[in-house]
Amino acid sequence: MSRIKLTEEQKALLFGEKGNSYSKCMKILVTLGEIFGAKKLIKVSSVQISGVSYANIGKYGLEFIEDLAKDGVKVSIKTTLNPAGMDLIHWREMGIDKEFAEKQKRVISAFEKIGVEISCSCIPYLIGNLPKRGEHIAWGESSAVCYANSVIGARTNREGGPSTIASSITGYTPEYGLHLEENRIPYLKVILDIKEIKPLYPGIIGYILGEKLKNKIPYIIGPKIELEGLKELSASIATYSGISMFYWKGISEEIDPPKKELILRERDIKEGMRWLKGDKSNIDLIAIGCPHATLNELYLIKEILKGRKVKIETWISTARKIYELALKKGLIDELGRSGVKIFCDSCFVVAPIKGRFKKIGTDSAKALYYIKGRLGSETYYGEKEELLEIAIKGS
Ligand code: F3S
Repeated sequence: MSRIKLTEEQKALLFGEKGNSYSKCMKILVTLGEIFGAKKLIKVSSVQISGVSYANIGKYGLEFIEDLAKDGVKVSIKTTLNPAGMDLIHWREMGIDKEFAEKQKRVISAFEKIGVEISCSCIPYLIGNLPKRGEHIAWGESSAVCYANSVIGARTNREGGPSTIASSITGYTPEYGLHLEENRIPYLKVILDIKEIKPLYPGIIGYILGEKLKNKIPYIIGPKIELEGLKELSASIATYSGISMFYWKGISEEIDPPKKELILRERDIKEGMRWLKGDKSNIDLIAIGCPHATLNELYLIKEILKGRKVKIETWISTARKIYELALKKGLIDELGRSGVKIFCDSCFVVAPIKGRFKKIGTDSAKALYYIKGRLGSETYYGEKEELLEIAIKGS
């Protein structure tokens, strides 16, 4: 007997009043809620679906989404998509084979049929899926989840692919974890005793705190940090731990800081850097844009390149909406003339490129982890400036 108290409307959905697909989605949410001890299902205002790349979801994932589409169900709330396994237009330039492309297109077409926005980006909050502080949402992409909880002040657990789809259709999620006030209390005050946040610092801080805290929430007091830094910190801390939220004093919602304290100094960050760095010989791909690059980052890349040509294959991942803005401003053509390839809708981690590159240079602490684990390539961790100089001069 379920401990979850359902409303009459929820019971009707569960028992198939609107058809088998709604019932299947409700079963997913009720089962998840039972596992985590939820007492009820709550309404959510937006969904970010994870598990979009065919390389991740495979045959069964595709069947699940196509079945929903065949059944005629539609999403009931704003729903965006995580990156797919390829640029939906320029997939050939990514070296994706036709067979994979066909499967990936079927995944996207099924999502389109159920009314999902084909945004394919891990920065939904910068391209129109921006919830308000305090709103309950159901997002799947770990970096976006962490950003939503920490910077926006929305409330979401780190959802899996099936539960995000189930929430998008029913509009509900089980109330547990970070939806509840008592689970959003910070455990440790982290004082960053540093003068400024340099480009790789957010990724390294995320790595250090993730390793130290495992799944406890930090309350960080530090110097001024830009949006790109918060995006990188969100991605890194969620990669190296089960943490899906942090507080950054002055940015996150206000809360009393914990008494327990940790001070991180330059030397701790340098130590973290030593763990992540790697060596820069024989790099055959420079990969930037994890999480997806912002317009500011594209401008920065242009400034660093100054029209010079790259010798090493260089990929930048971004959201299509950002690409379109950059195209209007002439940035895409300019970067293209330098030989840089800008891909949308996808990223180098979820694309099927295992075994193609021996060593990948990146400025993302999250990407380092997945490049080693999923792609089996070696890694080098460097700032954009250093990586692009390597791309120009050769490794
Ligand atoms: Fe986004 Fe891909 Fe990185 S989904 S956070 S660019 S691994």
